[in-house]
Amino acid sequence: MTNYVDASALAHTSYDSSMKTVQFTQMRYGTKQDYDLLHELERGYVAELPNRILAGLRELDGGLSGYQITRLEHSLQAATRAERDGADTDWIVAALIHDIGDGLAPANHAQMAGAIIQPYVRAEVAWVIKMHGVFQMHYFGKHTGQDPDAREAYREHPWFDSCERFCELWDEVSFDPAYKSLPLEHFEPALREVFSRAPFDPDVIGLTGTGD
Ligand SMILES: [Fe+2]
Ligand SMILES: [Fe+2]
Repeated sequence: MTNYVDASALAHTSYDSSMKTVQFTQMRYGTKQDYDLLHELERGYVAELPNRILAGLRELDGGLSGYQITRLEHSLQAATRAERDGADTDWIVAALIHDIGDGLAPANHAQMAGAIIQPYVRAEVAWVIKMHGVFQMHYFGKHTGQDPDAREAYREHPWFDSCERFCELWDEVSFDPAYKSLPLEHFEPALREVFSRAPFDPDVIGLTGTGD
């Protein structure tokens, strides 16, 4: 097999000679062998996605302050409420990760979470996660200068009621320090199952498209 390591790089760096790399420095010059290598490595990396999602959730424990509970506890509370309401796995995992974008996308955290989960759940669930930020403003917009009725622009959307329910039953109520949530470990098997699915599987996403 071709050795992809550049000898000149080895001479000037502490490069790991056991690590294979592509030969190109511009994508246009890559060979099939290069892209086969990347594809193989990407498979292993993608398989670690559930671990990265779990790490992202744990980071919420040190996120935004001011609430009576941490953002991780809020997420666990939302997921616990979904589970106790008899919601299916897609909804429970969606409730768990719905605010995972808080840290990296403070101006559009809902869209970030929606994008993360979109390849792995029903289109309806992904749409609700993507839109929950707009719908949540119903509860606080009048105090923050935002439009509490911004969600009305989506009133005719087939999943409007679904997003309204998500916010009312699981999101906006989940700021209660007295509520007994299930621990993150409880949700780990479901989270691993969802984020190990084949992405954009039509049997999972459904026949109605992305909802965009
Ligand atoms: Fe949110
Ligand atoms: Fe939330």
